[in-house]
Amino acid sequence: MFDMFEKEIAKSIAAASAGALDAGEVEAALEVPKDAKMGDLALPCFKFARTMRKAPPAIAGELAKALVPPDVVGRVEVAGGYLNFFFSEAALCRALAALAGRDWSVTAGEKEGEGRTVCIDFSSVNIAKPFHIGHLSTTVIGAALYRIFAYLGYTPVGINHLGDWGTQFGKLIVAVKKWSDIDEVREKDEYFLNSLYVRYHKEAESDPSLDDEARAWFKRIEDGDPEATAYFDVFKAVTMRAVGKIYDRLGVKFDSYAGESFYNDKMQPCLDLLEKKGLLTESDGAKVVRLDEWDMPPCLLVKADGATLYATRDIAAAYYRAKTYDFYKCLYVVAYQQNLHFKQLFKVLELMGFEKAADMEHIAFGMVSLEDGSMSTRSGRVVWLAEVLDKAVEKARQIIEEKNPAQEDKDAVAESVGVGAVVFSALWNNRIKDIVFSFDKVLNFDGETAPYVQYTHARCASALRKGGDFDLAAADMSAISSDEGIDVVKCLLSFEDAVRAAASSREPCYVTRYAVELAEKFNRFYIGHRIVSEDAGATNARLFLAFMVKNTLKTALSLIGIAAPESM
Ligand code: ARG
Repeated sequence: MFDMFEKEIAKSIAAASAGALDAGEVEAALEVPKDAKMGDLALPCFKFARTMRKAPPAIAGELAKALVPPDVVGRVEVAGGYLNFFFSEAALCRALAALAGRDWSVTAGEKEGEGRTVCIDFSSVNIAKPFHIGHLSTTVIGAALYRIFAYLGYTPVGINHLGDWGTQFGKLIVAVKKWSDIDEVREKDEYFLNSLYVRYHKEAESDPSLDDEARAWFKRIEDGDPEATAYFDVFKAVTMRAVGKIYDRLGVKFDSYAGESFYNDKMQPCLDLLEKKGLLTESDGAKVVRLDEWDMPPCLLVKADGATLYATRDIAAAYYRAKTYDFYKCLYVVAYQQNLHFKQLFKVLELMGFEKAADMEHIAFGMVSLEDGSMSTRSGRVVWLAEVLDKAVEKARQIIEEKNPAQEDKDAVAESVGVGAVVFSALWNNRIKDIVFSFDKVLNFDGETAPYVQYTHARCASALRKGGDFDLAAADMSAISSDEGIDVVKCLLSFEDAVRAAASSREPCYVTRYAVELAEKFNRFYIGHRIVSEDAGATNARLFLAFMVKNTLKTALSLIGIAAPESM
């Protein structure tokens, strides 16, 4: 939004320089000062000292004298070697008013992504394992990026690269045959399936023959044996039913569930190509691509017994995606523990001459643990995501009961608040930061949290219900253009900048932080100003502001996958 302001200011500076500077270079040099007292935009003139052969303060002074400021500028100040610009309040309000009639369905005005497909591999759950808290980040970060790219006009493709292949399926068949039966598995849930798996591992410690049986069963799955395949299908169905419920609660959808098993018949051509390019080396009967030159261990692609690996499937998947989607970028939202895997994968693809090797990106993120220390699958108790969501919803319900006993639809609001709080917690920081999850922290209505933003949204909704329709033509903009008000206006105008920053850095936290910032700024305004008063002009302007804040918060929340109840 401020691009327009920047362009006009740059043009006027270029004109004031009498040909010494061109508008493009001025625009590139303009920066947003850290301290708002130094203006909304500043031109650091030392950048031109050499070409203009003058001291920066002299340049700033001369430019200021010759400048005919465009009407987006309210005030210009020279401060040392800087030329500082303050936007005009009237121009800001006009720019905001121009957005009043916008379409609030989720798409930006200007579509940078038109004609560009972005594949986003996220969530990618493993069959027969319940959804644990470790899958929260990949799911909500991936889904947020999906919506953010869609908002900017890209065509996102959400891919759930299911972990649906490997020896664990042989183990599960053995476990089911020994301690349950297929009908029981079909009827019960993913936790039951998991308990069989856990029992298998315990018993296999003392009885290694189980592993031979498991291997034999997995071989039968590989060979397409009908009995083994029937088991496999049930495991998959039970898992998909369970994760489907979680995806519904999180509002997450996928365009493809092509997982590891999908690539069973698509790896050979890739292996042939690797062979042809002389990239495969034998190592104890296995086939690897050596990566010493790049300081990486070899990438193992075929085991001595002929079995393919995770990496082999990812190579086939890369070719498949390039051919099927002709993507602009292919993102993998996967924990940083797999850094090496993706570095190896991208390098092997590059060596193979895969055209899009440079367009593959590993979108890494940190770990989530609970305050009480529990979390990981390996080191102890696993925390299931459904339990975390349920507990957050229950706590939200209690808070609503206390704060607002008359609230309608308490269950629905509690679901939005509880789930929203959990989702938000994974989108608040830069991805790579580890998260220590605390129920009290994420549900704090006065903190940097989803409930805080949701509450502010509901506050706007309530003001609008009370005030009724507003008439922008009859609004007295001076009622929103002083101090706190103009901060809100500027923040509203920078919404799309935040979305673009989130997309280009693949960091949804830009949107999350924006939502909190806007909520904070609006609340500061709200404390000092009555929205609905006897002054009709002021009321119209303030209702308009509340309307813009409400819709912008709602849009921001929707991009990060959080519901915005009308009252709470
Ligand atoms: N299923 C894997 C896991 O849970 C993640 C898969 C990520 N996607 C990929 N194409 N490798 O660790």
